[in-house]
Amino acid sequence: MTEINHRILLRARPGGIPAPDNFIADSVPVRAPEADEVLLETIFLSVDPAMRSWMMEAVALGEVMRSGGIARVLDSRSGGFQPGELVQARLGWQTHPTLPAKYLQKVDLARGDALAWIGPLGLSAVTAYFGIRDIGAVKPGDRVLVSAAAGGVGQIAAQIARIEACHVVGIAGGTEKCAFLSNELRLDGVIDYKAEPDLAAAIGHACPDGIDLYFDNVGGPTLDAALLHLRDSARVVLCGRISQVAADPPYGIRNLGQLSARRGRMQGFQVFRYHDRYEEARAWLVARHREGQLRQRLHILDGLHHAPGALGMLFRGENTGKLIVRVSNPAT
Ligand SMILES: NC(=O)c1ccc[n+]([C@@H]2O[C@H](COP(=O)([O-])OP(=O)(O)OC[C@H]3O[C@@H](n4cnc5c(N)ncnc54)[C@H](OP(=O)(O)O)[C@@H]3O)[C@@H](O)[C@H]2O)c1
Repeated sequence: MTEINHRILLRARPGGIPAPDNFIADSVPVRAPEADEVLLETIFLSVDPAMRSWMMEAVALGEVMRSGGIARVLDSRSGGFQPGELVQARLGWQTHPTLPAKYLQKVDLARGDALAWIGPLGLSAVTAYFGIRDIGAVKPGDRVLVSAAAGGVGQIAAQIARIEACHVVGIAGGTEKCAFLSNELRLDGVIDYKAEPDLAAAIGHACPDGIDLYFDNVGGPTLDAALLHLRDSARVVLCGRISQVAADPPYGIRNLGQLSARRGRMQGFQVFRYHDRYEEARAWLVARHREGQLRQRLHILDGLHHAPGALGMLFRGENTGKLIVRVSNPAT
C-alpha cells in the first residue's frame, strides 16, 4: 500500500481566472485512520466553477484545495465501510485522504459505475434535474433554451428537457461543441455564440416562437439576449453566471423589463439546498440512464498534476463536457 499522500494546496487567491500558480503541490505521509475514520484512494475529482469562490474564502491559504469526487476505501476503522468499496465525498485535491466516515456516501455500483457517478448521476446532473424540473417547472411542448449546453450541467439540462418532450435549443462556443449538441444529443437547434455577431438575432432565428424556459448557466450578455425572446409566463432559471465570475466590471442586465411585459419569472437556486431530495433526483437519473435516454460526454484529464490547470479551463470554455481529473484507475 502506498505511503505517500500527494496533495495540492491553495497558495494564493485568484485575481481573475484561476491559474496553476494559485496552487502548490506537496507530499506527506499517508495518515492511518483513527476510530470512525477511513483511508481512501482518490479515483475521480470533479472540476466545478464553484471552486473559484471556494478559493476566495472557504479554503484557507496552505490548505488542501476543496473538491468533490469518488474514491476507493483502502482501510477502514468504521463498521460502515469495507476496503474495496467506492464512496463519494469532499475528498480535496489529494491522492490518499483520511476522512471521518460520517462524511462519506457509498456509491451503489448496481446503479452505475464510477464514471457514471461522477457524470450523468453526479452533482452536475442533480443540479440540472432540480433546475429544469423544480425551478423551471418544465412541461411538454415548452420551447427551451440552454446556455453552456455542451458543459456538465447544460448537457443534462438539455436532455431532461428533450425527455420531457420540449423543443430544445442549445448555446455553446465553437463548431465542435455545436456539432456534438446536434449530432449526439440531437437537440432541435444550436447557436454557436462565438460565431454570431448579434446573439439576440441568432436566438430569434433559432427560437422563432420565443422561449418558455431559459436555463442560464452563463449570465451577462447571453442572459440579456435571451430575455428579449421570452414568451408569456416564461421561466428563467439562474443556474450560474460563469461569464461574470471574473468580469470587471460586471455586465449590467438591460432587458429585465421583458419579465414584467411577459409576466415571467426569474429564479436562482443552489443544488446544496436540495440535499434532502438528492435520492429523488438520482432515482430519476438512474432510470433514464439505464434506458439509454441520458448520457454525458466527459472531459477527462489524467493525473492529479492536471488539477491546478483544469479549473481555468472552465472559464475559458476549453472543456467539452463535464470536466474531471482521473487520479487513479477505477478498476484496480
Ligand atoms: N446553482 C447551482 O447549484 C449550480 C451547481 C453547479 C453548477 N452551477 C453553475 O452551472 C454552470 C455550469 O457549470 P458546469 O460545472 O457544468 O461547467 P461547464 O458548463 O462544464 O463549463 C463551463 C462552460 O461555461 C462556458 N463559459 C465560460 N465562460 C463563458 C463566457 N464568458 N461566456 C459564455 N460562456 C462561458 C463554457 O462553455 P462554452 O465554450 O460553450 O462557452 C464552459 O465550457 C456554471 O455557471 C456553474 O457555476 C450551478
